Amino acid sequence: MTELDGKNILLGVTGGIAAYKSADLVRRLRDAGADVRVVMTRGAEEFVRPLTYQAVSGNPVHTSLLDPDAEAAMGHIELARWADAVLIAPASADVIARLAQGLADDLLTTLCLATEAPLVLAPAMNRIMWAHPATQANVARLRERSATILGPGAGDQACGEVGDGRMLEPLELVAGLAALFPGTELTGTRVLITAGPTREAIDPVRYISNRSSGRMGFALAAAAARAGARVTLVAGPVTLATPAGVERVDVESAQQMHEAVMERVDACDVFIACAAVADYRVATPAEAKIKKQDADMELALVRNPDILADVAARQRPPFTVGFAAETHAMQAHAEDKRRRKGLDMIAANWVGRPEGGFDTEDNALEVTWEGGGISLGPKAKTRLAAELVDVVADRYRQKTAHAGGPA
Ligand code: PMT
Repeated sequence: MTELDGKNILLGVTGGIAAYKSADLVRRLRDAGADVRVVMTRGAEEFVRPLTYQAVSGNPVHTSLLDPDAEAAMGHIELARWADAVLIAPASADVIARLAQGLADDLLTTLCLATEAPLVLAPAMNRIMWAHPATQANVARLRERSATILGPGAGDQACGEVGDGRMLEPLELVAGLAALFPGTELTGTRVLITAGPTREAIDPVRYISNRSSGRMGFALAAAAARAGARVTLVAGPVTLATPAGVERVDVESAQQMHEAVMERVDACDVFIACAAVADYRVATPAEAKIKKQDADMELALVRNPDILADVAARQRPPFTVGFAAETHAMQAHAEDKRRRKGLDMIAANWVGRPEGGFDTEDNALEVTWEGGGISLGPKAKTRLAAELVDVVADRYRQKTAHAGGPA
């Protein structure tokens, strides 16, 4: 189950180059279990044909307020009542201005006035238009009326400029939308999660690291927060935005991650080790940049602390969930890790394969615990994370019920 399972999402698409991303957004929303109906403005039709959204949503696309056929199938008031949330992505400067004014001069703005569902906007425009005081005043006005604004992100723009104004990526929008429908499975629970890679310095400019993007761990943090938990995320060096409602602690090396976890572990009920922590670090990192020489060079490595094993070995450990990233004999290695480290649960995934693991949008997990297990995925990491959090919440409740209360 994810927070968007069975939810009716009305997706408004307005005129902007980011409209092409909204076809993928529809697919991602449907992956998350939502039923999606698309409303396009005339501007949007200049960029993408309605047929595209019809094909990906599996529903007719609505474009006009005065279309008798569309009104006969599902009238605009019916559509406004049907929606559990209205998401406008991309939201142009024009639609933001019209909504701020309370205009109802096309189907989309009329629906926004006629619905009681929450309104979520994903702005996308040139950085100067976004920064313009008129746009900022319109956005502030919509926020005052409880609209949620997701983004915009920063980066290269279609117009060739660089700055704030990019529409967030579809998976970020799905996560932001899901946050509107919080669950209660982990209410009152404190969850500590590690995510991302670590960097082990060789000298001031070089390091040893791995391919972890942090996506799986960040998706878990977002899912746990949506399930009602108080979440602390100890993150290695990644470029991801902090999920809503999550406390984030940034670290770089395995030793720093170990320290950050150990400082917080006694105050948590559930610990999930999703980070790809370097098992070794350079014995003596050079203080100055190492100069190239004719001779080959050897690096002496020493073992890093095992954060997961140290957490599980506490006198009163939290409910402890490990990950296992394997390139062969996945189940056997994962089971060995679970038993050897004394874990409550382990989630095993393949790495080094195109279909999942490191730096991919989708993944699949073989989750096991003493006497049981479940296969999850393959699917988007956001959805997979929500399912894993459900399983963790269930097993954690069972464990605490047997032990007579939380640790
Ligand atoms: O970040 P993404 O690009 O989304 O990719 C996700 C992922 C592949 C990194 C993730 O799903 C995953 O598998 N994380 C664990 C990666 C890993 O280091 O696995 P491992 O089998 O080497 O380690 C076993 C467990 O011990 C892991 O829970 C790890 O966090 C933990 N560990 C390992 C070494 C160490 N020194 N300290 C630890 O806590």
